Amino acid sequence: MRRLIGGEFEGRANIPGGEFLGDLLPPGKPVSLWAGASSALRVLFRELGLRPGDRVLFPSYLCPSILAPFRQAGVIPDFYRVGGDLVIDTGDLDRRLKEGSGPKAVFFIQYFGFLQPPGVLAYLREAGRRGFVTIEDGVQSLLSGGVFETGHWGLASLRKWLYIDAGVLVGDLSKFPEESAGVQGYSLYRLYKDLGIRAREIYLAGGPGFFEKFYLNMLKKAEKCYSSYITCKKLSYSDRRKLDRGIGWSGIKSLRRENFLLLERLLEGCRQAVPLFSLDSPDICPLGYPVRVGDGLRDQLRGHLARQGIFCPVHWDLGGVVPSRFEESIKLSGEILTIPLDQRYNEEDMEYTAGQVIRFFK
Ligand SMILES: Cc1ncc(COP(=O)(O)O)c(C=O)c1O
Repeated sequence: MRRLIGGEFEGRANIPGGEFLGDLLPPGKPVSLWAGASSALRVLFRELGLRPGDRVLFPSYLCPSILAPFRQAGVIPDFYRVGGDLVIDTGDLDRRLKEGSGPKAVFFIQYFGFLQPPGVLAYLREAGRRGFVTIEDGVQSLLSGGVFETGHWGLASLRKWLYIDAGVLVGDLSKFPEESAGVQGYSLYRLYKDLGIRAREIYLAGGPGFFEKFYLNMLKKAEKCYSSYITCKKLSYSDRRKLDRGIGWSGIKSLRRENFLLLERLLEGCRQAVPLFSLDSPDICPLGYPVRVGDGLRDQLRGHLARQGIFCPVHWDLGGVVPSRFEESIKLSGEILTIPLDQRYNEEDMEYTAGQVIRFFK
């Protein structure tokens, strides 16, 4: 078998077990399931009655795909400062909340599984009590304790954790919307994705190199379809069934934590790849192992790792997305790299990955 690390999830990412989505969420909070986080966001605009020209506040460090459904609805994004350590600057947020007639909603992100510090969460809760609608993006922090206890609304995306394309909207919908146009585009997305994943299986089992190219091409097409068809689409029947059978969520959490600690130890002496976080609480479940690579070497390292079969995402490329005054966010975006550590990988995989990082800098 060839060794490939990172990239889209396939069946082996779904560890069976008897735990349900509801077990992960704060008790008493209603949830609805959609075909992806973007679908869930689309549902939320309708619920909030967002209209063209409304202002919504976003953090200066964010996944650009979050903005697409807002922009499509004519909402004007405005930004508040997040530091280079990904902590929200509550002073700046406070100033922005007081500007003009105030925003219609405030969006905030719990990054990489590491929740915002308690003081920031307390500030956000307080802003919520002052009448601002708060939307908590827990897409990267679904398995961390305490997520979705702050915002009025919460957002999760299961495809960041396993092989299920579900967007989760946490919050009480007054009206369950009908599916909107564009559902066909979603089916195309699934088709490309499934074809890509099958091709990857063939390649991994020793098939010709053509299947690797085919796999990457299909996934590129899939993502293009996903982002160009933003729609209210309910969760598919097959994904619903996978969730209803139960998942080994605690197993996934502990494997990810073990891999994080292993990478931390293996990369301890590598001063060119600086970790953004450390696991200082048992509640944290990391999405990946984000590091900062300075001296303009990030893309070279990424290329080197890809040639060794290790695919590291960049969370996120902010080029042209946020105003240039958010220098720290833009600098971070040019240096950040996420090393994969999910439940598909064991100690040997992590040793191989860390070894390749170290080799690059030697
Ligand atoms: C923090 C965050 N929120 C929302 C999204 C959108 O999620 P999805 O790709 O499932 O629509 C992403 C996508 O990468 C993300 O990283």
